[in-house]
Amino acid sequence: MGFGSIARRAEQVSESQIRKFFQEAKPGSVSLSLGQPDFVTPLHIREAAIAAIREGKTGYTFNTGLLELREAICARLATDNDLSYNPSQVVVTAGAGEAIFVAMQALVNAGDRVLVPDPGFVSYRECVTLAGGIPDMVPLQSDLHLDIDAVQERLSGARMMVLNSPANPTGVVEPKESIRAIVEYAADAGVCVLSDEVYEHFVYGAETVSAARFSEDVITVNATSKTYAMTGWRAGYLAGPESYVRQCTKIHQYCQTCACSISQYAALAAYTGDQSCVAEMRDEYAARRDMLCQGLQDLGFSFPIPEGAFYLFVPMDADTFSSIIDHGVVIVPGDAFGSGGGGYARFSYAASRDIIQTALNRIKDAV
Ligand SMILES: Cc1ncc(COP(=O)(O)O)c(C=O)c1O
Repeated sequence: MGFGSIARRAEQVSESQIRKFFQEAKPGSVSLSLGQPDFVTPLHIREAAIAAIREGKTGYTFNTGLLELREAICARLATDNDLSYNPSQVVVTAGAGEAIFVAMQALVNAGDRVLVPDPGFVSYRECVTLAGGIPDMVPLQSDLHLDIDAVQERLSGARMMVLNSPANPTGVVEPKESIRAIVEYAADAGVCVLSDEVYEHFVYGAETVSAARFSEDVITVNATSKTYAMTGWRAGYLAGPESYVRQCTKIHQYCQTCACSISQYAALAAYTGDQSCVAEMRDEYAARRDMLCQGLQDLGFSFPIPEGAFYLFVPMDADTFSSIIDHGVVIVPGDAFGSGGGGYARFSYAASRDIIQTALNRIKDAV
């Protein structure tokens, strides 16, 4: 049977290279490749979901999400981020991924230019393309921080700029003054900032600041996924000016109707419950980061010590990369995150200390 042609918008985007590396790993490999916590969702959050099922909370919610969840999100944004939002400025989405997609569909017109950090999280570039926009890949400095002058030069005439601090794949946390400068330049140029803050709670000695502190023309994206080890639940949100949020809600409504009701009750428990689970996970990531950094430095690698997220971005030639893969350690080539990542490899330390130790032993044999 013959099939018809595929839409150009689908053909224009590529499959993520990250899963591919993971799936093609040889048997017995250990993985430092995935960007998801290896913790199970804390028990009180799972219990809240079970209670929601038992109580039959199984119907549609408002398109924008449960009111009490949006209120809880606003309360967290006020206490954790010093941001003032009301529930009508929030849409609960199926993870940060949907929030990014929806925001771009709602704001980016065909031919609009969108500044995207290069290397950066893979979805940004592809979501811009799916919206008909033109990704303007902004190279990072050699220390993997954003090049503020390069950003400023490109802002004029752009529609949107993506900020992601702490960043995937580099682990870089931009200082407050850099965030302020970029956001203020963007506001002056009439460019909306999409600030993806999914790693905000995983910082080690550094301080994070929300872009929306410095301008109203910002869409803040966040999720339960990383903070509460809830990647599979698909619960995140976007928050921004009401005029944007109304348009985002329409896009969200026609692809998703509403986020999963059970996941929303779980997210409510996450945002309103005891936050010590987040600190415990952060402390464990910090210990793993130190272990992996030290281990790789002892083997002769040198790289900027990341201050956030759970990634290390390490300069590496192609032969060393292949040898590490051949020795049974899965890592991701930097150019999977944009051509600016060429010559690097991303290590994720969202893996147990045992796995990290096994990986280090194998890397020692590989180099
Ligand atoms: C920077 C960044 N933003 C967004 C996401 C997607 O998050 P979610 O699972 O909530 O869709 C990821 C996942 O790896 C990420 O690294």
